[in-house]
Amino acid sequence: MSKEVQQMFAKISSKYDLMNDVLSFGIHHIWRNFTVRKANIQLPIKILDCATGTGDLAIAFHKKIVSKAEFNGLPLNNNEIVATDFCDEMLVYAKNKIAAKEYPIKVENADVLNLQYSDYYFDIASISFGIRNVDNPSKGVSELARVVKPNGKVMILEFGQPIGWFAQPYNFYSKNIMPFFGKLIAGDQGAYTYLPETASKFPSGENFKKIMENTNSFSDIKYYPLSFGIAYLYVGIVK
Ligand SMILES: C[S@@+](CC[C@H](N)C(=O)[O-])C[C@H]1O[C@@H](n2cnc3c(N)ncnc32)[C@H](O)[C@@H]1O
Repeated sequence: MSKEVQQMFAKISSKYDLMNDVLSFGIHHIWRNFTVRKANIQLPIKILDCATGTGDLAIAFHKKIVSKAEFNGLPLNNNEIVATDFCDEMLVYAKNKIAAKEYPIKVENADVLNLQYSDYYFDIASISFGIRNVDNPSKGVSELARVVKPNGKVMILEFGQPIGWFAQPYNFYSKNIMPFFGKLIAGDQGAYTYLPETASKFPSGENFKKIMENTNSFSDIKYYPLSFGIAYLYVGIVK
């Protein structure tokens, strides 16, 4: 399964950012900024962004660190951000964006299910729209928690299922319009059928919180529905 996921993202990597902007009408930036705000960053800080894809969340964290450092007159060079993914083709686009702006973000290949980092190394481990693609999400959550210090945060941004009046139009949109644009823009209807389909089935809200609780890694877990529950942010405080 992971091999197929890797190959699917390799295939759509060149159009991934454009598709994100088109399909979410740019709202994914708002969700990422919300995630960064909830991180409540205190400097100096070490952040690991897993399944980073083209690096947007890692870059959003970096921008926040820069503004905090400038505001408080603190040095920038004792912070660390590592952006990782198991798909090298996606990482090419992350590396290009990061190099173009000379952001001090390390980009490394890593599988969420087997991270090469020491226990308790990071203050925050994050993953956006990646955990549902991982073969064993519970093991992925445990791995994220393993590399975070006690009282640090695991931050998971993932799709959910919208509720209320918005559910029906959204379901129509994700089942029909997304695959259509997937074919038109990315030349891959399959990927843009798979992505909304997995989102429609993936545990969200209380159900995903239970998965996190069952890892026994957290002293506290909060979650925030975003845009009628299209997405959720989960924040676990590591024991
Ligand atoms: C939908 S993209 C999300 C990318 C980015 N985080 C974002 O918010 O746009 C999912 C990413 O998860 C990565 N991925 C899936 N399973 C993974 C795993 N086991 N380890 C590392 N990366 C994984 C894929 O390669 C892909 O880049």
